[in-house]
Amino acid sequence: MNTRAPAVEARQLIKAYPGGVTALNGMDITVEPGTVFGLLGPNGAGKSTTVKILTTLARPDSGTATVAGHDVLRHPDRVRRAIGVVAQNSGADPGATGRENLRLQGRLYGLRGTGLDRRVAELLDRFTLADAADRRVKGYSGGMRRRLDVALGLVHQPEVLFLDEPTTGLDPQARGAMWDEIGRLSGEEGLTILLTTHYLEEADRLAERVAIVDRGRVVVEGTPDSLKGELRGDAVHMELRSGVGEAGRTLLRSALDGLPGVHEVLVDGRRVSVRADDGAAAVPALLGALERAGVGVAAATVARPSLDDVYLRYTGRRYSEAEEAGEAGEGGRTDGLALAGGAR
Ligand SMILES: Nc1ncnc2c1ncn2[C@@H]1O[C@H](COP(=O)(O)OP(=O)(O)O)[C@@H](O)[C@H]1O
Ligand SMILES: [Mg+2]
Repeated sequence: MNTRAPAVEARQLIKAYPGGVTALNGMDITVEPGTVFGLLGPNGAGKSTTVKILTTLARPDSGTATVAGHDVLRHPDRVRRAIGVVAQNSGADPGATGRENLRLQGRLYGLRGTGLDRRVAELLDRFTLADAADRRVKGYSGGMRRRLDVALGLVHQPEVLFLDEPTTGLDPQARGAMWDEIGRLSGEEGLTILLTTHYLEEADRLAERVAIVDRGRVVVEGTPDSLKGELRGDAVHMELRSGVGEAGRTLLRSALDGLPGVHEVLVDGRRVSVRADDGAAAVPALLGALERAGVGVAAATVARPSLDDVYLRYTGRRYSEAEEAGEAGEGGRTDGLALAGGAR
């Protein structure tokens, strides 16, 4: 049993922005020291707002939080010394070189002389930026910039590192390299890491514990395996040729729920999802039942449980759809995803 105090503890954080957006609606988080904790949620879920509050860049309307044992509202200066922050958007000066950025950051934290030289050289080496150290950051690739961002967050050897969407916008190769790096930071250096992501795969791969965030609060939390393990059997997803109304939804639910080995029927627009003890065996019966109900099926897939299924179960919506709705509402970076209608 772990008897050390949590590295991060947030209780019932509430935050509304001017204009009436409730960004946080009772956010609770506990992160044990030396672990990687993933805050997973679609765009607009409240991840960055949570990070801003925990890193003292914003104040909650109510609720409490401690980081490295310090209260974020009462001792923001102590919190700032104990943490490293890599914001969603890069904080590096593009007109300066990588080395200059690191030196400036080090000086801000009180490093001088050979101590500063040594730390900067160590980080450049560590993040494979030594060859590019004296080039301006504006010429760096996305992956190099992101590695520099992480290095900047580590200059003063923090206890807790916050990574807000560390791989958003990176190509798959740079993403993989960043994953390896984050794994090393927690594994070899015992750093506590709170990362946010809207990539299911990233949370699954990196985080020892994941909290799925939806509309400003945690809907479920656990290890990726325990979350997936809670779901019985396979997921079967079917796409209908046309959407069904409220009456049709009820009809479909009762038609499918009665089939042997089929549970948890969810109907959402044109998507029908069920859990089945044996997905492949259930498909013919499911298609037959839908046909008898007069509903055409365009596609059916069977999959082992994923975090997407966990999300669907706890929110009643598919992750990809929440993501699109959040994107449309946010108008921020889109990461190449198609914008869909904002309706939820
Ligand atoms: N400065 C702001 N002013 C007004 N609304 C904001 C501001 N920052 C975020 N929001 C809104 O708060 C909600 C949560 O945003 P955010 O915390 O950035 O979510 P995430 O990081 O999960 O995408 C969104 O609806 C977003 O549009
Ligand atoms: Mg964000």
